[in-house]
Amino acid sequence: MSDRLWWKHGVVYQIYPRSFMDGNGDGVGDLAGIRARLDHLAWLGVDAIWLSPIFPSPMADFGYDVSDYCDVDPVFGDLTEFDALLADAHARGIRVMLDWVPNHTSDQHPWFRESRASRTNPRRDWYVWRDPNPGGAPPNNWVAMFGGPAWQPDPATGQLYLRSFLKEQPDLNWRNPEVERAMHGVLRFWLERGVDGFRIDVIHRIAKDPAMRDNPPSERPGPGWGGQLHVHDENHADIHGFLRRIRALLDGYDERAAVGEIGLAPEQVATYLGRGDELHLAFNFAFLRQRWDAEAFGRELALFDAAVPAEGWPDLVFSNHDIPRHATRWDHPQLGEARARAAAVVLLAARGTPFLYFGEELGMRNGEVPPERRRDPLAWTLHPNASRDGERTPMHWSAAPGAGFTTGEPWLPLAADWRTRNVEAQRADRGSLLWLYRDLLALRRRTPALERGVFRPLPAPAGVLAWERRHGGSRALVAVNFADDERKPGFAAAAVRDGVWTRAGASLPGDAGQLALGPCEAAVLAVDG
Ligand code: GLC
Repeated sequence: MSDRLWWKHGVVYQIYPRSFMDGNGDGVGDLAGIRARLDHLAWLGVDAIWLSPIFPSPMADFGYDVSDYCDVDPVFGDLTEFDALLADAHARGIRVMLDWVPNHTSDQHPWFRESRASRTNPRRDWYVWRDPNPGGAPPNNWVAMFGGPAWQPDPATGQLYLRSFLKEQPDLNWRNPEVERAMHGVLRFWLERGVDGFRIDVIHRIAKDPAMRDNPPSERPGPGWGGQLHVHDENHADIHGFLRRIRALLDGYDERAAVGEIGLAPEQVATYLGRGDELHLAFNFAFLRQRWDAEAFGRELALFDAAVPAEGWPDLVFSNHDIPRHATRWDHPQLGEARARAAAVVLLAARGTPFLYFGEELGMRNGEVPPERRRDPLAWTLHPNASRDGERTPMHWSAAPGAGFTTGEPWLPLAADWRTRNVEAQRADRGSLLWLYRDLLALRRRTPALERGVFRPLPAPAGVLAWERRHGGSRALVAVNFADDERKPGFAAAAVRDGVWTRAGASLPGDAGQLALGPCEAAVLAVDG
């Protein structure tokens, strides 16, 4: 289909480069490793990969603190290796998205080193500097998401700089046109190299209230992030203008796309799509907070589907590098595997671009990371339980030492079940979750209703979520049983032509009306009519 757009009709796979594949035995994943594993992704059938930051970085926040936007950190490789990866991915029909971090740089970025050198440095205004209030207090009550006040004192110049995250991550001042120009230059640098698009980090924070007013207290006032309503330090209306200019830049190239990370309610997230003139996609994070519940899932699907403007397109995300893996969040002593299979159906058969997080196709759970092996700074700046290391443990490729991920000592410990839950073992088992993901991806690709169709919720018994997708003459019925006993979705009679059922090895019913789902089973049925 010539009008097939990869970012809209395809599936995106997130790679956390430190943890995907280590090509040089130093225990940390790298670009050569990713390149060596592209065949896995081609076999799975994904349309694009998004690489979490690969740029030079002191790694205070593992790459989300960038010290040079136009190069590759030596731990991952170099620009030549990147070009080779891009060419090899493109040769397999796989697009490549990079992770652009516009809100802040590293405190080691030359821009910030200059900015902090003196109050009169030409780059002073590239960041957000303020005098302390009389008595030395910070200029306002804003707090950093990663702990402490959002204002970092700088004894050398007697001012404070704004930092929404770690003190090593000073916020850029996008209201300075030179900053905007420099950052557009960064986008062009990668677009000219052939990169297909960007995941944009915390885009809802690049402009704040110019008057820097205090945030009001939340319903649970307190010193931390949750103690305030974030009305002045994020989601400023001016961000939409910045986004329209970013979109115009991307539109100057062929089929490039941007997906934004926006930590707001779904209705607000959808506004970042503009009228088709801002982001191509904005992450729908609603499911990251949801419990395993048919009604809650149905509500979130319908809500975002309705919130997205006609010119926009929805998406779904269950896991990423910031939140415990969904197979852990929705785990269950007996039905954990069945739930992971049913979740794959929701992700891949609802309306919107699915984002997969590496290893979810194996049902990877969070790894146990003992205190002495913790690496994520949030364990120190926030709380030991806030560490994101568990969802970042390395990919399980095989039962070989190091899980086939590394010949060295992995930078984070492997999750306990790596010897049995790995790519090699699941490829050998036709009934595995890995094969289910592959089957669902293939079904999407050959079923226009699943790639493009409208979403219409269908009435279903309690505990069952059911919907229809329809596009032209293509029609699909989807049912997910969240309950721990058998339920019948109660579809009207319709001849089943194609489909996927999470029950391994089962043949599809001839008539959709006959479908009965076991505990936490799900099915997608392409039907006549
Ligand atoms: C985003 C990233 C997260 C990072 C933060 C600060 O939320 O996903 O990993 O720590 O931004 O850049």
